[in-house]
Amino acid sequence: MRLIREPSVMQRLARRWQRQGIRVAFVPTMGYLHEGHLSLIRVARRHAGARGIVVVSIYVNPTQFGPREDFTRYPRDLQRDLNLCRSEGVNVVFAPDDEAMYPGLHQGRYSTYVVEEKLSAIMEGASRPGHFRGVTTIVAKLFHLVLPDVAVFGAKDWQQAAIIRRMVADLNFPVRIVVAPTVRESDGLAMSSRNTYLDPEERRQATVLFRALQYARQRVRQGPVPATQLRRAVARLVAAEPLARLDYVAFFDSETLEPVREVRAGTHMALAVFIGRTRLIDNARL
Ligand code: PAJ
Repeated sequence: MRLIREPSVMQRLARRWQRQGIRVAFVPTMGYLHEGHLSLIRVARRHAGARGIVVVSIYVNPTQFGPREDFTRYPRDLQRDLNLCRSEGVNVVFAPDDEAMYPGLHQGRYSTYVVEEKLSAIMEGASRPGHFRGVTTIVAKLFHLVLPDVAVFGAKDWQQAAIIRRMVADLNFPVRIVVAPTVRESDGLAMSSRNTYLDPEERRQATVLFRALQYARQRVRQGPVPATQLRRAVARLVAAEPLARLDYVAFFDSETLEPVREVRAGTHMALAVFIGRTRLIDNARL
């Protein structure tokens, strides 16, 4: 396995693979890898084939964090991540630093962003202004450096995957986007690097996101429910946990992300909940 830290080195290698007709499957991450990330790496390997190349990027992207968010305390452990990647048969880890990715970011010498204007305005985008501008910008930059044939994203961040798909279609990126299922702990909590912020009591209450999704699925199984009514019921369920505070819950079409008024089996639900100071998200098709 090779570790690359320089964007120019990454791009030169990617261009060589392209000339040689080698398939490249790419998994972008912010590191602190868990089973969710590893499942994406396995999907990437399937798409690359035994003779193809799997590239994992590990980069905590500053432009997708708000000024009051957790950029500086986001967990980082490159050695541990490299060991996990090695044991998964990853070929190349690309782990650049901020100065390499955004030269002069804080001195005003970086000024080009990729902005998706529609799907980015709702849910996570409404709660975290500028977040998706940072995501689309870094993913576009990474695609230009890694030149992947396939890129794998997690269903855990459903809206993010939808926005990346739209960016790739709108800007003609020659890459196929694959979305892999959410990996959960045994009690249903979606795996996330941010789960490490939770103390034991918060960790117990954090299952409320999964329980809310299960509850909604049960409700719509008996027939359509008005979104306003289901939203109130979910808010009550979340409020029953003393450390939990609902940020939003949304019911929408899985593909278009258009909100629905009537929630039925097959409608998508997403929610964001603060557990203490930690903000968690989850989603599922009901
Ligand atoms: P990160 O949160 O590290 O997630 C990297 C990828 O892993 C994303 O595609 C995410 O959806 C997926 N993932 C996270 N938890 C998962 C789980 N429990 N099951 C399945 N997949 C999971 O998402 C990002 O980083 C960044 O926004 C990034 C795309 C790398 C751009 O900076």
